[in-house]
Amino acid sequence: MSQLSDYHRDRIQSVLGASPLIPVIAIRDPEDAIPLCRALVAGGISVLEITLRTEHGLRAIETVRSAIPEAWVGAGTVTSVEQYRQVESAGAQFVITPGVTESLLEFGVTSAVPLLPGIATVSELMMGYQHGYRAFKFFPAEVSGGVAALKSFGGPFPEVVFCPTGGIRRATAKDYLALGNVKAVGGSWLTPEDVVAQKDWAQIEDIARGSLADL
Ligand code: 3PG
Repeated sequence: MSQLSDYHRDRIQSVLGASPLIPVIAIRDPEDAIPLCRALVAGGISVLEITLRTEHGLRAIETVRSAIPEAWVGAGTVTSVEQYRQVESAGAQFVITPGVTESLLEFGVTSAVPLLPGIATVSELMMGYQHGYRAFKFFPAEVSGGVAALKSFGGPFPEVVFCPTGGIRRATAKDYLALGNVKAVGGSWLTPEDVVAQKDWAQIEDIARGSLADL
């Protein structure tokens, strides 16, 4: 079994170290991509997960990557190797999957773009661990045991770090970040659908800044 390189591990550590909060972004109007991401960056958040949850995700990764070179721009909700290849070509700097498959884990080892695989159980973590992964998304965090589950993962796997997402809110982010094995927290509360629909970029910037201040 081929193993993840130190380069990949360092890159993912850099991504998780660059921002304690990672917005999970779904682009519904392609014109929103740049102003929305600029507002998040202006509010202090420099790591952006743009999901393939809408048909505009792929193009948004490409445009945001060239418009905001100071941000880390990654692809989220990648569920197949075909999508992984597409986001590589679009210029994604990291890839996040909601869960793991053997083919995604294998592809992530060889790709130039590092992978943060999603896991919800110890067995899934072990699948990734075998390939050399030491950082995972924990999804869906709240319903999979939340803070207590992450504490338990730290027993058998003290060197593994996590980015929990799913059900986390502004008020609960700090409870996760208080754990030694949590490096960043992700969520969609940073980009509320109604605020984005109103194109209220000043409010997005405020939410980002306020959420960081609350930590
Ligand atoms: C994700 O993919 O990480 C989640 O959909 C984000 O979860 P949230 O919408 O509950 O923040």
